[in-house]
Amino acid sequence: MKQSILILFFALGCFAFDFSIYNKLDDIERYLTTLDSCKGRVKSRLESIGTTYEGRSINMITMSTNARAPYCGCKKKAILVECGIHSREFISIAFCLYFMDFLKNTQTGIQLVKKFDWYLIPVLNPDGYVYSMNVERLWRKNRNPFNETCVGTDLNRNFGMEWDPANGGSDDPCNLFSYSGPQSFSELESQAARDVIVNRGIDFVGYLGVHAFGQMWIYPWGYTFDLVPDDATLAKCAQIATAAATSRNGIPYTYGKVTDFFPTIGGLAVDYAKSAGIKFSYEIELRDNGTFGHLLPEDQIIPTSEETTDAIVAWADCVCAEIAS
Ligand SMILES: *[C@@H]1O[C@H](CO)[C@@H](O)[C@H](O)[C@H]1NC(C)=O
Ligand SMILES: *[C@@H]1O[C@H](CO)[C@@H](O)[C@H](O)[C@H]1NC(C)=O
Ligand SMILES: [Zn+2]
Repeated sequence: MKQSILILFFALGCFAFDFSIYNKLDDIERYLTTLDSCKGRVKSRLESIGTTYEGRSINMITMSTNARAPYCGCKKKAILVECGIHSREFISIAFCLYFMDFLKNTQTGIQLVKKFDWYLIPVLNPDGYVYSMNVERLWRKNRNPFNETCVGTDLNRNFGMEWDPANGGSDDPCNLFSYSGPQSFSELESQAARDVIVNRGIDFVGYLGVHAFGQMWIYPWGYTFDLVPDDATLAKCAQIATAAATSRNGIPYTYGKVTDFFPTIGGLAVDYAKSAGIKFSYEIELRDNGTFGHLLPEDQIIPTSEETTDAIVAWADCVCAEIAS
């Protein structure tokens, strides 16, 4: 088992962190607590947005800058990036960590933080992640028990937009993949995400729910085949994002509405974000195309993160152009 390597750079007051491996939760949390002390033009703030069934904090990092301009539009808007809702999708969490470092420590990233405030939830389902790392690699749900034998809810079926176990979910607590929970927002993790989305008065214009695998950018609706009113705009920015991702390493990414790729699904986070008024709401499926599936080798973490960062940079320009026009 590889150990993550933490090197302390006293000169910068910053931890270097090994982004090329699937880090343990403890190491991720240690890294997050050091981010605040990093000097630089980007201010970051770590906070807990909730506590899980097993008592772990759900962490969120906020990145912003004092620079007044150039915003996109006349008021600065925010983007929410949510990773690790499904615990076996390790690449999602690894990407989020890479992307936070990109925002904080690169010229292009700092430009993005001038344009938008960023809210990043790197591990929305920490109980699941620890369980997947230590016990059952393909664990997907949270760890809230229904009873002794049937544990966990699929958090991405539990959101309060057209929540419906009969529509792409399950009312069976023993279902390992898609149990929708006893009611919408029954789970502490989905509640925590909801409260960030709607209860804090943050002016979000973008939501990115990061998953694996499938190499695609998909947008609402998921619960119905109906189109959102601004389908053409969402498609345009998805096209730009996926073209940028593909051109980095030649790995093909596609885009479309959720139902172009999946049957209808109720209770999705991306549908909830859209219904809450976040215009540019997407779910991203990272690598791969099924060759390794959820067991994506660590040597693909950096290339996957680089192409997805390119995609988000291009997407953010598209969002910026749309809201400024
Ligand atoms: C747990 O609940 C499931 C679903 O209702 C049921 O099939 C199972 O027998 C229960 N197990 C225990 C130990 O009660
Ligand atoms: C999946 O991706 C691998 C690596 O890029 C490629 O060699 C393979 O042909 C792809 N398979 C399919 C079914 O697209
Ligand atoms: Zn997923």
